[in-house]
Amino acid sequence: MAILNRSDIAIDLGTVNTILRNDIDNVVFNEATCIALDCRFGSKRIVAVGNQAKKMLGRVPKDYLVINPLLNGAISDFETTKIFMKNLIEKSKVGSLSPRVGISIPQNLTQVERYSLYEATILAGAKEVLLIEDPFSASVGAGVDISTPRGTMVIDAGGGVVEVSIITLGGLVTSSYSKEAGDHLNSILVEHFRHNKNIAISKEIAEDIKRKIKLLEDNPPINISAKDLVSGLPALFEVDMQELRNLLLNEILKIKQIVLEAIHNTPPQIAPDIIDDGAILTGGMALMSGFKEILEEELKMKIRLSPDPILDISKGAALIMQSYERYAQKL
Ligand SMILES: Nc1ncnc2c1ncn2[C@@H]1O[C@H](COP(=O)(O)OP(=O)(O)OP(=O)(O)O)[C@@H](O)[C@H]1O
Ligand SMILES: [Mg+2]
Repeated sequence: MAILNRSDIAIDLGTVNTILRNDIDNVVFNEATCIALDCRFGSKRIVAVGNQAKKMLGRVPKDYLVINPLLNGAISDFETTKIFMKNLIEKSKVGSLSPRVGISIPQNLTQVERYSLYEATILAGAKEVLLIEDPFSASVGAGVDISTPRGTMVIDAGGGVVEVSIITLGGLVTSSYSKEAGDHLNSILVEHFRHNKNIAISKEIAEDIKRKIKLLEDNPPINISAKDLVSGLPALFEVDMQELRNLLLNEILKIKQIVLEAIHNTPPQIAPDIIDDGAILTGGMALMSGFKEILEEELKMKIRLSPDPILDISKGAALIMQSYERYAQKL
């Protein structure tokens, strides 16, 4: 397979995870979208990036900042995004060449949000920036030829956004989205424990519980250590996983409505393609046990799990960067 131009890089800048490739098959960075900065003495010095920075959340002195520069797929902090992108560019740099950077972004970003990201990446040292919308990277990464006149539906259920898109001939036909994605499920669990059980659990424990839940099976109880809000002391609790499964099922059923909205807005010429081919499912939520099957059952539609729901968008973005000139005009 042909390699990327020597100075090209492709980034899936996700709300939860960022993946960077400097070649189609070479992942340079696959870690949390997070950065820890030492803000003493009027400057911002990088202390840690990625998973190491995420581990520092809530554990740093007051002059340090641990930031996730994205919120629901969009820049929430310009300065930090610039520092984060600069660090990524440094990690992948070949010699002193400034790279052309392809960034996969949610298709629902506003022009202002797109421009902020473009500007932050140029200021971070990119020679040129190509913003590629997630549904295109996702389809190409999953092996679909997006240049044909056949409609393709992509469901990308990530950490900050669920996006449902229908594309044809390399263009977007219609889309729908919700900001209630994987991170939202964690918040639902945290809130449930706080309000109904008087227990404070961390987001990390919520993430851990979520990953253990099998949506279509009986889930045996588990034990967690958390803080009892009545006594204020840490303690061990038994967790009713069936109750939590039902809680998450309710949330997941809302995704059905987002898919139906996209289907509703699909022109009649393309709708039959979607019915025949079904949809491609990608994004980290696709890894939840039973998620794909629930969507299939609820929508009465074939759903194809993308080969690697976490890595395919960055792969697709790298493949698109291979044809940079062609796509730069189109996207
Ligand atoms: N095995 C799993 N079971 C359940 N959820 C999972 C699993 N693996 C990952 N996730 C969830 O997937 C989400 C991250 O997915 P992904 O990496 O696609 O998001 P992202 O690209 O960073 O965010 P976005 O595209 O929404 O901006 C997280 O909410 C994470 O909890
Ligand atoms: Mg994503």
